[in-house]
Amino acid sequence: MDIAQIPTNLLVSNSTSIIHPIMHALSSVLLLGSCAFQAVLGRPESDLFKARRQTELLRRDVDSFVATEEPIALEQILCNIGPSGCHASGVGSGLLIASPSRSDPDYIAGQARLQTVSNPSGSLSDGTGLAEPKYNTDFSAFTGAWGRPQRDGPALRATTLITYANWLVDNGYESTATSVVWPIVRNDLAYVAQYWNQTGFDLWEEVQGSSFFTIAASHRALVDGSNFAAKIGQSCTACDAIAPQILCFQQSFWSSGGYINSNINVNNGRSGKDANSVLTSISNFDPSLGCDSATFQPCSERALANHKVYVDAFRSIYTLNSGKPSGGAVAVGRYPEDSYYNGNPWYLNTLAAAEQLYDALYVWEQQGSITVTSTSLAFFKALYSSAATGTYASGSSTYTALRDAVLNYAEGFVNNVATYAASNGSLAEQYDRNNGTPLSARDLTWSYAAFLTAVARRSGVVPEGWAQGNKLATSVPGGCAATSIVGSYSAATATSFPANQTPGTGVPTTTVKPTTTRATTTATACATQTAVSVSFTVRKVTNFGQTVKIVGSIPALGSWDTSKAVAFSASSYTSSNPIWTGSVTLPAGTAIQYKYIVVNTDGSVTWEADPNRSLTIAASCSSTSSRSDTWQ
Ligand SMILES: *[C@@H]1O[C@H](CO)[C@@H](O)[C@H](O)[C@H]1NC(C)=O
Ligand SMILES: *[C@@H]1O[C@H](CO)[C@@H](O)[C@H](O)[C@H]1NC(C)=O
Ligand SMILES: *[C@@H]1O[C@H](CO)[C@@H](O)[C@H](O)[C@H]1NC(C)=O
Repeated sequence: MDIAQIPTNLLVSNSTSIIHPIMHALSSVLLLGSCAFQAVLGRPESDLFKARRQTELLRRDVDSFVATEEPIALEQILCNIGPSGCHASGVGSGLLIASPSRSDPDYIAGQARLQTVSNPSGSLSDGTGLAEPKYNTDFSAFTGAWGRPQRDGPALRATTLITYANWLVDNGYESTATSVVWPIVRNDLAYVAQYWNQTGFDLWEEVQGSSFFTIAASHRALVDGSNFAAKIGQSCTACDAIAPQILCFQQSFWSSGGYINSNINVNNGRSGKDANSVLTSISNFDPSLGCDSATFQPCSERALANHKVYVDAFRSIYTLNSGKPSGGAVAVGRYPEDSYYNGNPWYLNTLAAAEQLYDALYVWEQQGSITVTSTSLAFFKALYSSAATGTYASGSSTYTALRDAVLNYAEGFVNNVATYAASNGSLAEQYDRNNGTPLSARDLTWSYAAFLTAVARRSGVVPEGWAQGNKLATSVPGGCAATSIVGSYSAATATSFPANQTPGTGVPTTTVKPTTTRATTTATACATQTAVSVSFTVRKVTNFGQTVKIVGSIPALGSWDTSKAVAFSASSYTSSNPIWTGSVTLPAGTAIQYKYIVVNTDGSVTWEADPNRSLTIAASCSSTSSRSDTWQ
């Protein structure tokens, strides 16, 4: 069975919840992405992207698609989250998603509880139950047939929770990280160290074998575990012992045909050319690893060679791609042998093909050179026919030609999605291989997540790295061993989660940094604030000379008098991310109403459409909060 074959509405219905494809999608956007967004949203986009983007017609089309789709994608993801998402009413709180950037953090306690539920994959006592992919939304086991176990689940959960736990430690909440999050993570790390060397189901939930994605996620989880344990003064000896062996095994997915064979230890008649490989490369992207081949970084010779082989596998099989030049972007699917719904392009895969290239461009710009090797030559030649092996420094004409060719190629994939997305911005799962009509599950969370990460990379927003200088990340042992360490497992006892220990509500912005709220061991051990500095972000395309302001129902917001409205700043405004920001100190425990206005050069005022916006300023330990809106 195939997770992707389950209509999205089932994912959020009362019947079942599906844990880790959603975890995969959301961990990248709402966790990794949120930290990255905080660090860089306000940073001007690189001159490269800005300059090039302003010159070409294709790029303008992609720009306008990105600008309109971005808020829709985010909103639609939130809509798919229980209990109160607009498409998710009745869904249990915190079961499906990794979302510390929302105000309701029950997710963490939910995972602690889920780990203890015995299920058809097994139980917690020997760890086997941790790889169960599917539960009912009331926390009970799902006992129907399914592709289980899925061993990427524990690894992804560990990585997701460690990413959040790092944020906790960095923001003064170390005791929460060690007492609430770490006990959950420890079980998952033990699982990976014990079971990594057994077959399981792949990320499409179809193939039982060894999956490239699962093995890469497992290695990364143990490196994350090693780094995080050290950060909190503990150790993970199983992480340190086993990570090198998983990385060793990962190398064997590189096939003599010059591409990644995504599924091994299985004989299912497939070529192994699979989006699995591209998704792995982008989800384990760490800019500090440069173009490292052992971890298949997006700009590594292997990942680029694989990108070409993977994309080429779809050129001739989809009518939609006919007539496209051989070096041009096309619609791509899961694997060429796919027969589900007759086998079609998937939005998330076409976006992943773009994302890998944006990642590569980021690293080349950082390191100031592009290296073409005999392994990656065919990839470059398809885009730039006179490409030859060598290293080209930025500023050289060859560097510029190669870089521009890859950028244009990347934009082409996004443009393909722009062309075949529904006209109102909804992204389904697939689009028809013959005519591009949206197909299968509607409003697929993973499609939106894939869009958001791709366009974040497009504007130079990259995830924080996971290697952190740890040699476990990249050193491959001379010989591989099928070792494993039997773990010990115990129930994490967290039943609730301290309030306010999240990066803020809504879309994270640069200004959300609760540095004034220091470590507390319990949620009540801090003083309730009487005033809260609220950071507002509003997305509004404006013309030169216009100013965005906020006006509302209380004196701090001008009591609806536009002459007393609070002016916002355009310092974070870019063409691809047209946001205005401002901070207002508001009384805690108050319900307010507000609207945004644009003040034109002649002083006239343009109001947002009704209704008035409502906001209740929580009286809590936190003296800061944030709010993100899109002009209505
Ligand atoms: C276990 O690891 C060994 C050594 O890397 C490898 O040859 C074998 O294929 C692996 N098997 C599975 C099922 O992971
Ligand atoms: C787009 O239209 C479809 C069909 O009417 C609807 O189900 C979907 O919710 C709409 N999407 C958005 C983002 O408005
Ligand atoms: C918004 O608030 C103002 C001031 O209280 C009020 O006059 C107006 O009717 C409100 N708009 C709506 C749509 O409720």
